[in-house]
Amino acid sequence: MSQAFQPFDLERIMSDWEQVVEYNLSESGAHPMKLKELLAYDPDLMDHMLETELGYGWANGSPQLREAIAQYYPGATSDNVLVTIGCIEANYITYQTLLQPGDEVAIQVPNYLQGWGIAQNLGATRKTFSLDPDRRWALNIDEMNAAVTDQTKLITLCNPNNPTGQILTEVEMDAVLQAVEHSGAYLLADEIYAGAERETDDVTSTFYGRHDRVISAGSMSKSYGLPGLRVGWLVGPTDLISQLWTRHEYLTLSTAILSNHHLAPLALRPDVREQIFARTRRYIRNGWTNYEPWLKENEDILGLVSPQASAISLVRYNLNMDSVTLVNRLIREKSVLIGPGDYFGVPNHIRISYGLPPDYLNPGLERIADFLRQVAAEEGSSTAAGA
Ligand SMILES: Cc1ncc(COP(=O)(O)O)c(C=O)c1O
Repeated sequence: MSQAFQPFDLERIMSDWEQVVEYNLSESGAHPMKLKELLAYDPDLMDHMLETELGYGWANGSPQLREAIAQYYPGATSDNVLVTIGCIEANYITYQTLLQPGDEVAIQVPNYLQGWGIAQNLGATRKTFSLDPDRRWALNIDEMNAAVTDQTKLITLCNPNNPTGQILTEVEMDAVLQAVEHSGAYLLADEIYAGAERETDDVTSTFYGRHDRVISAGSMSKSYGLPGLRVGWLVGPTDLISQLWTRHEYLTLSTAILSNHHLAPLALRPDVREQIFARTRRYIRNGWTNYEPWLKENEDILGLVSPQASAISLVRYNLNMDSVTLVNRLIREKSVLIGPGDYFGVPNHIRISYGLPPDYLNPGLERIADFLRQVAAEEGSSTAAGA
């Protein structure tokens, strides 16, 4: 009997609450850019945009946009690129193209569990391999090698990782590529946070170009701070890109023309991209200077491995309450939204976003701390009462 449809729990709790709560500390990108901030990089662009006929545009991404993307992937040309509606579509059509019912997929955990749900809904068999919290979220290579068999059709990971912000080392990347080589599987590397590094100005290396069965997924949503453009992409071997396009045609056809033809190519211009990444890193680094002391103040309840990239962190908490109950109570009692660790495959953790202006971040953090202390007191008194 087929299993029940697996909804995307993380996206649902965010859709339900992110526009409602007073403090949304659940968004994984840096604070979004304003349209006028982006247009400032090309003052004539607005006039061109006003003359644009609002047609469909290029279904697979304009040649200019695909070239602008390809330049950041070693050896790629515009033929290796398919433009999608965000990275969410990019991931979805890759699963849909490469997995048949009964096929095995090896999924890194913790992770943005989009692939976890899609694999179940496609009837694929899921195996997982972990990042180890006791070794600063290092890749558990033995577990990966056990999860990848000669039945594996797809290995998936997110690097830099959502939700931990961890970046794979060269040794770990090589181990992944060896697993790709031995199994005959494809690798889908969701690299949406590349460019959002906290500790370095070097953009995280792509897996693309290191093996002929690698597909890299990216987007304007996180490191570019432009989720509203709804532009993502896949970079992969041309024959696979053409199969992926046949799914894209059924699903979304094309991205919105103003993003596709004008705004995304501008954000990808090398000088503009560099300044946008600098802006993102400023948000992340400034946010960190407020966030780290708050963690220290609350280290009797919270434990963190410092994230290397992204505006998010996966924090362990020493309370008995499960993370979904905790987050739902936090929403209702304090009007603050964060991500429950269980929605990333890790119990007893919460994901907190910190790439936010201090006048918004700090009061949100204060409410979280108040709430955690309140729960600690409740648990203390119920333990005492039960003793
Ligand atoms: C790892 C990861 N992949 C994909 C997505 C979807 O992003 P997009 O807005 O590009 O569709 C997200 C959004 O949170 C994400 O965190």
